[in-house]
Amino acid sequence: MTRKTTAAAATTAKADASAASSAAPAQAKSAAMQRPPAELLYADELARLAAEDRGPVPPGWRLSMGAVIRFIAGGEGHRRKLVCAPSLLERALVTLASNRALLLVGEPGTAKSLLSELLSAAISGTSTLTVQGSAATTEDQIKYGWNYALLLNEGPSERALVPSPLMRGLREGRLVRFEEITRCPPEVQDALLSVLSERLLMVPELADAGTTAGTVFAAPGFNLIATANIRDRGVNEMSAALKRRFAFETVFPIADYDEELALVRTEVDRLLARDGLSVTPSPDVLEVLVTVFRELRTGIGRDGQAGERLSTVVSTAEAVSVAHAITLRGHYLRGDAGRAADIVEALAGAAAKDNADDLKKIRRYIDQRAGKRAGEHWQAFHAARHLLPE
Ligand SMILES: Nc1ncnc2c1ncn2[C@@H]1O[C@H](COP(=O)(O)OP(=O)(O)OP(=O)(O)O)[C@@H](O)[C@H]1O
Ligand SMILES: [Mg+2]
Repeated sequence: MTRKTTAAAATTAKADASAASSAAPAQAKSAAMQRPPAELLYADELARLAAEDRGPVPPGWRLSMGAVIRFIAGGEGHRRKLVCAPSLLERALVTLASNRALLLVGEPGTAKSLLSELLSAAISGTSTLTVQGSAATTEDQIKYGWNYALLLNEGPSERALVPSPLMRGLREGRLVRFEEITRCPPEVQDALLSVLSERLLMVPELADAGTTAGTVFAAPGFNLIATANIRDRGVNEMSAALKRRFAFETVFPIADYDEELALVRTEVDRLLARDGLSVTPSPDVLEVLVTVFRELRTGIGRDGQAGERLSTVVSTAEAVSVAHAITLRGHYLRGDAGRAADIVEALAGAAAKDNADDLKKIRRYIDQRAGKRAGEHWQAFHAARHLLPE
């Protein structure tokens, strides 16, 4: 080994050792959680990426864009965590390094939230500075609130102020997530306007004329990632002024069958491993499940034949949770790894949530398409059609 490579190896070993020591408590913490946030789940991988990162790092970021891409899209020894077009990821990163905020829009279950979580974990080291949008979201939840006991006792003060995730993100120079932003009333969404254009948040109660008291300025690294589901109240209800402050990116369902099948398989294996189970779903059952979900989602068969689409959500996220549920059912109730017949019941349950008409479409799909397919699992799926409610 030459001196240069020895030195490089020593540096890497040192980096690995320090990454491993800082990641160990995170691993212990994450083991005690049902769903650890990405920064804990992937603490060791993120620490290693930071130690080895040689690319230019935007102000306030933990990693270079190249390292964030490797973390999310995989490659060079890293596992792919999200299936998406490389160009989407690149555009999202450039937006986040600019002075515009990012809005991820798309069908339900297309991994918009997952993408925003992975981006904020990699870029800012935390994905939990999150505002969850709903019809009940108030301006206080977006900006700041007060500890009323202290407020009454002492009057408005820094101590009595309860910062929102947005205010913390501004102060600490981190990414803030705003989930389902279009579920908030537009006048509440507009609380973001001055934050996004002037990059500051005023607390008039603490202001002192002629000084900057009561003003929180954005530190480098602050930006906002919002998500919006097009099945909820649309982005049309967002004010034009706010829309201008966002770069919109549409997140599409996974286009390729093999990629979706592989993703469902790895995600289910991961969930089962977290449950402490060594059971693996049958590849044939997963194939039936992913095919059925794709065909009912798009209305187009694998053979290219046109059919009916469901209005119920049959997303990849739903496919993962159905595959997980049927494997648990098989394991705990029957001692098998899930059957094709279980998919029929899961579909019926999903359709019942949204639209009774969908049940008829599922029945026609099973009769007309699934019944014609060769293979034991397709036949079992077809034979279970009596499980659909009348
Ligand atoms: N392209 C994808 N890459 C990786 N995982 C995906 C992808 N599409 C769906 N998934 C699966 O879906 C889950 C994430 O769904 P997520 O909640 O992020 O979707 P969403 O678009 O935010 O949905 P909603 O609009 O309902 O909030 C992942 O944990 C993964 O199992
Ligand atoms: Mg979401």
